[in-house]
Amino acid sequence: MPKLVFGHSDEEVDLPDEAPIAEACEEAGVPFACTEGVCGTCVIEVVEGKENLTPPTPEEEDFLGEGTLDERLACQCKIRCGKVKIKF
Ligand code: FES
Repeated sequence: MPKLVFGHSDEEVDLPDEAPIAEACEEAGVPFACTEGVCGTCVIEVVEGKENLTPPTPEEEDFLGEGTLDERLACQCKIRCGKVKIKF
């Protein structure tokens, strides 16, 4: 089962395969606004396991630049497998 870890608290959340991470991030305190990948409010830093997230959406590439995997938009990405550690 994929696991999302919050770097500032080491809190761990188990999520189903291919689950969006937005809800767990919101509960942990990540700020959200548009939830559509437009405003950039929900930018997170991926500290570990960036390969375990779904590939960047077109909205993420527009906002963060193509090929960027160290930063993601929490309202856009899903966790595929393994462990992903983030900071915000
Ligand atoms: S909440 Fe606006 S980009 Fe994620």
